[in-house]
Amino acid sequence: MKALVLAGGSGTRLRPITHTSSKQLVPVANKPILFYGLESIAAAGITDVGVIVGSTAAEIEAAVGDGAAFGLNVTYIPQSEPLGLAHAVLIAEPFLGDDDFVMYLGDNFVLDGITDVVEEFREAPHAAQVLLTRVKNPTAFGVAITDDKGNVLELEEKPAAPRGDLAVAGVYFFKAAVHEAVRAIRPSARGELEITDALQWMIDQGMAVCSTVITGYWKDTGNVTDMLEVNRTLLERLQPSVDGYVDDESEIIGRVRVEAGAEVRRSRIVGPAIIGAGSVVSDSYVGPSTSVAEDCRITHSEIEYSIVLRESSFDHIRRVAASLVGRNVRVTLAPGPPATHRLVIGDHGHVELSS
Ligand code: TTP
Repeated sequence: MKALVLAGGSGTRLRPITHTSSKQLVPVANKPILFYGLESIAAAGITDVGVIVGSTAAEIEAAVGDGAAFGLNVTYIPQSEPLGLAHAVLIAEPFLGDDDFVMYLGDNFVLDGITDVVEEFREAPHAAQVLLTRVKNPTAFGVAITDDKGNVLELEEKPAAPRGDLAVAGVYFFKAAVHEAVRAIRPSARGELEITDALQWMIDQGMAVCSTVITGYWKDTGNVTDMLEVNRTLLERLQPSVDGYVDDESEIIGRVRVEAGAEVRRSRIVGPAIIGAGSVVSDSYVGPSTSVAEDCRITHSEIEYSIVLRESSFDHIRRVAASLVGRNVRVTLAPGPPATHRLVIGDHGHVELSS
């Protein structure tokens, strides 16, 4: 079995982060979201992986390399434009050949991995298998209608009046029959070749599309809220350790990792939280569910439930919460008077001020 990992796309919901970098490389618990997927694929015993790349190809290739670090053999498949998930399958046919494969969306997160379903699909006779998960807001997802044996009868993409609450998660299993399906379908109203249309085409041709309802944790990290939520979930499983420097005046409470080369001075860190290598936290409070990446400066500031990417700094800022902060961002107090907010923010940025 092979794997096809989708790491292209436009990432509009994560702008402005995605103006300058790939959404699949946004770190959660200080590791790119994409790496968790690649690790799950390797853990399931798959080694040949095709990675679909778009405008951020160079950055993805620099991060993943030839895949050896994950025990994988990676082939990059450039996609000229994000023309849909089924388009990714279409252009990957030369790589996939007649092999069975798992298609894994590079910004999705499955906490318990995919090993069990990979094993199941290796033995299975059906043409495709999808992972389903119960959601409270099915209108935001592809929704599957199944019979009592788990066979998928019908799929609806973001239905206005959903007939069920089983959403299709971003991990799909296919036999080679899918290649005929992606060639047969036409672009949807939004101009994309939809994987739900390809699956529906297979069902309409009488092919068996099965499903597994996952009870474990799954998230599509396409937006900031979900990214913060995955970060929180991962931090809760963090192995605490203090490998950096923490002075006597600081307090470390709960599940906290201070990476080698990080410094904490006169500060209070309440876990779960991680402070990346080379970062310095001084006279500050870092609260639960916060990931501070490498080489950041948190000075006389308070931050919680947030992700801060590398080389960013907060100076005399109280209190930041539920935030995703890009690389090399500086947040400081404006010199006053008068008390003003001075903003230099990238296109599609989003700022909420409390006063
Ligand atoms: P989506 O999150 O559905 O699409 P997107 O990346 O364009 O994001 P947005 O809706 O915010 O604009 O894509 C799921 C995954 O598949 C994601 O990792 C990007 C990837 N992808 C491709 O590689 N090629 C594509 O043509 C599309 C649509 C997505």
